[in-house]
This record gives sequence, C-alpha cells and structure tokens, in this order.
Amino acid sequence: MRSEVKPPWFQVRFDNLDREAECNEGETLFHSARRAGVRIVGACGGRGVCGTCIVRISSGEVDVERPESAGGATAPRAKEWVRACLSRPSSDCVVEIAPRSIAAVVRAEVGGQEVTVAPDPVVRGHDVVLAPAIMGQRQGGGADADRVIDALRDEGAARIDLYALRELPGLLRGTGWRLQALVRGDEVIGVQPSGTRPLGLAIDLGTTNCAGFLVDLETGARLASLGIENPQAAYGADLVSRVNHAIRSAAGARELQTAAIAAIVGLARDLCEAVSAMPAQIIEVAVCGNTAMHHLLLGLPVSQLGRAPFVPAMCGAIDIKARDLGLATAPGAYVHLLPNVGGYVGGDHVAVLLATENRWAKTTTIVMDIGTNTEISLIHRGAITSVSAPSGPALEGGHIGAGMRAAEGAIERVRVVDGSLQIEVIGGDAEAVGLCGSGVLDALAAMVEAGLVNRRGRIGSGHAAIRAHGDHREVTLAPGVAFTQNDVRAVQLAKAAIRAGIDCLLQEAGLEESAIERVVIAGAFGAYIGLESAVRIGLLPALPLARIEQVGNAAGIGVRMALASAALRDRARALALRSRYLELGSLAGFRRIFMGRIGFE
Ligand code: FES
Repeated sequence: MRSEVKPPWFQVRFDNLDREAECNEGETLFHSARRAGVRIVGACGGRGVCGTCIVRISSGEVDVERPESAGGATAPRAKEWVRACLSRPSSDCVVEIAPRSIAAVVRAEVGGQEVTVAPDPVVRGHDVVLAPAIMGQRQGGGADADRVIDALRDEGAARIDLYALRELPGLLRGTGWRLQALVRGDEVIGVQPSGTRPLGLAIDLGTTNCAGFLVDLETGARLASLGIENPQAAYGADLVSRVNHAIRSAAGARELQTAAIAAIVGLARDLCEAVSAMPAQIIEVAVCGNTAMHHLLLGLPVSQLGRAPFVPAMCGAIDIKARDLGLATAPGAYVHLLPNVGGYVGGDHVAVLLATENRWAKTTTIVMDIGTNTEISLIHRGAITSVSAPSGPALEGGHIGAGMRAAEGAIERVRVVDGSLQIEVIGGDAEAVGLCGSGVLDALAAMVEAGLVNRRGRIGSGHAAIRAHGDHREVTLAPGVAFTQNDVRAVQLAKAAIRAGIDCLLQEAGLEESAIERVVIAGAFGAYIGLESAVRIGLLPALPLARIEQVGNAAGIGVRMALASAALRDRARALALRSRYLELGSLAGFRRIFMGRIGFE
C-alpha cells in the first residue's frame, strides 16, 4: 500500500474494524479506506451522492465538503455523521464507520447447498519416476523435459509449459527423480512433488459480491468458500457506471481490471490459508461473471458493450494462462471463463442454468438471478430465451438511504399489525440501525398494505409513521431509520425492470403468466427475500408460492461444476449456444410494459 502513498500522508485508524490506512494529502477517507481494503460501503463509488459511506470522526483534523453547500469545506460538528467520500483528513485521525456502512463479509453460499461434483478433471496429475541422469546419456530424449514427456505419452502429453519447465530440473533432482506431472490436454502445465493435493479455484465474479470456492479436484469436494465485496464497487455500484469508467480512459479500464484481479488473488490467498495450502497448488481456475465483469477482467474493450446494440467482444468460453492475470497459481495453470450468452447475460447465468437444469428441464420455467443486473431466462418446450434487466442495487439495500448489510441491527422483516408497522431486527433485541435487502422488500410491501404508500408509489399523509419535510415525505420504521420517497422510487424502478423482463419473455413466447409452472430464483439475495412481499409489490408474478423456489447461489454451484468436470464444462457450452438473447430495449412495447409495472396493483 505504501508505494501508492506519497508524502505527506496521514495515518487513519478505523477504530471499530481495528484497521488502519494511509491517506494521501487531499485524498478522501473513502478512497484511502477502499485502497487499504477497509470494508466501507459506497454505492455511488465515492461521488458523494448516495449517502451510504457514513463515518464519524473520533479524533484528528478532517475537512468535510457538504453536499448541499456550493464550496468550501468545514470541520464536522461533535459526533456528527458525515460522508467518508467528502471527508479529507489534514492530520492523523481516528474514524468510526457507521454500522450500516460496514460492507458485508458476504456469504458465498446459502446453507444446505453442499454439492459434490463427480470429478472429471480437465487437469490430471500423473506420477512420473525417472532413472537418475547418467553421464553419456545423450540421445533418445536425454533432456529432462523430453524424458518426462516420453513417460507421459500414453496420457497425451506432447509439450511442456515454459514456466513449468523452469521448475523441472531442480524438482527432479530434489525429489529423487519422482514427481507429479499435471497434464491438461497435450500440455504439461506444472510439476509438483508427488502426493501434492490438486486444488481448483472457482470464482463467481458478481457485480456486487465475489464468491470463491476451493475444490479438491481429485474428489470434487468443496474444501472452503468465501465471499467478499467486489472491490470494483469503488468505481460505481452498477454496471453502467463501471463500463463508463472503463470507456472514459484506458487508466480507468486498468483500474477495474486490477480490482477484479485483486478480488481473485485475495480469495485464492484466504481460501488456501483456510486449509493450510498454497495458491501454487491451484492447478485450474474457473470464473463466471456477467459479460461486463468478463470483459473488464480480461481487459477487453467495453465501449461496444456499453452502447446499443450492446455487442460483446466474445461469447465463447475462453481459456487463458492464470499468470497472464497475475495469479500465483501452479506455473502453467489456466483460467477457464464460462461462455456468455449475449448483451449483459454472461457466464454467471450460464452457470445458474447448468446448476438448476434438473429443476427446469421438462417444464415451462422462469430462471432468474436477482442482483444489480437481473438475468432472466424463460425455458419453454426446451427453448431457452434470456434477457438482462437493469435492476440496480436498490433491492440489495444499495441506493437506499438506510440500506445496510444483513448484520445485527438490520431490519429484516416488516409486517402490518393492527394498521401499524411491526419490525423484526437481526439480533433480536438489538437497536434498529438500518434495513437489509429482505427488509427493503418487506417494508415496501407493508407500507403498501397499510395504505401508507398509494398505488402510484406516493407516500401519503395522516399516519403517525409518516413525516414530512417540505415536499419530502418518509415513513419512520424505527428511531433514526426511515424509508423515504426516493427509496420507494428506487425499489419501484428495480421491480418494474425485473417484472417487465418477465412480461417481455412471456409476450415473445405467446404465453400467459399462468403458463409458468415454476420460478427458480437464484442468487444470495434471492435466497432471503420474502416471497409474499415480492408478489405483493409485483416483483414476481402472482403465482401459487409453491411454484416458486429459492435455490441460493446457483452461479457458485455451476462454476464449481464447470471447474471439476470437463463433461459439465461442455454442457455449459451447449446451454450457452442453446440460449437466445433478447435485448429488452429493442422489444416492441418494452417501455409501455415497464411503465405499467411501476405502480402497485
Ligand atoms: S456518498 Fe459516499 S460513496 Fe456515495
């Protein structure tokens, strides 16, 4: 970190996370925190407009720019909560991050999701034992690499990776001429001491969160899993902001690529540490992500993806050397990226389809992964049609004034009892400090049910919970926690985008809503939403709840399947090829359908 910091710099201590960061003169608390990997929420990427990066200065000199003031910065008042992205230290300082602004250590998967894939590895380890080299042994493959490849002829080996070759002579002589060669197709991609456990790394590179899974490639078993916030969030919470950041300058594109790589490197390091292994034991990596994540990770241009007609640079699966991304895996290891479908529907949705195929194969099904971008597929008579709905971060608590991670103090349930709103808070008796994603949906559904919000989404008046500040109205859920008119609007836009996506797919297939036999909801967020609330606000069709299934992080399962099995990797390719992509904006009537889904029926 120090190399990025030029003097003068200040030491910033984030007391409640027990972390420190070094802050350049003129830099904001938000950016120094993000650079140091301190988990602070920032839905707008530090542009000062979302109000999610709240901190309090415990000691030290800090200048705070006020969003409402035209110019000039002032010191914060005692105990005042301020925005970290508008606060610039001018001395060493101690800072407290508001509970709702501490970014989640994300659940990589939801309970009950243990899946062991029958292994059919792309890379196989073979023990090789050679006679020691002797004087005079010159022809017939006397070189180390020739002798190893010779010993592996029956396994299909014909060449060796240069970086693996660099390790070969020392290893052979250090291990008594016995080693494990890692063969991928016709290439020896690594050499290791015999008996080294072959590990694989699966990454679900989400817009908001990244999940990593360490897998034993011999057995297919998951050894460890971990989720973190995507560090690209520093450049914007939604895909469009990040794509625009990359389009604006080559440096911006590099920042986003570096952030994505840092997430994978960090996950590899922490997962290996959890099982006392080394990242160098990772002999294959599989990654899935939406098309923008895929392109940004690979450093592919995104300008054609960010503008109509939204064309990806590539859709097919691709294998690249892990070292080309700076990953410290086995020397010649590859990263396999799952294929994209089209537009923003990428390999993460293909992974969801792969993981859930047994649930939809013979039915008319909607498969959806709710997130910052919501990918939706309609499967009907074996045909797969997919769209991507720009739902934004509101449903996950982003861009919601009191939005926070699912942690102690988060309101997770809201219901109407005798005309009043009753809340449930994570941590039971804990004081409510914000709203997590499931709480956002529940709160809005309850506000609609109680008549506090009308069918068009306007907060009314005449209820004890409603406060008005001039034109601005909000509903108080708990002391200091309010649901504002802007929050209502953000959720309306998100749910309308998703529901319009479903409507358009049905319209294209000539189907009525009642024809849907099953709805499969993937994604960690989707796993926790209250289905009744989701139906009540019109996010989901009004179907019997028994037809709706929440399956958790199916993309994470799908990418593990593709990591551990060559046959399932082929299956993923086939699913991507079978999927037809529809660009929502180009469909006749999309705008009308979207507007028709803004309100509450
Ligand atoms: S207001 Fe600070 S990150 Fe958005």
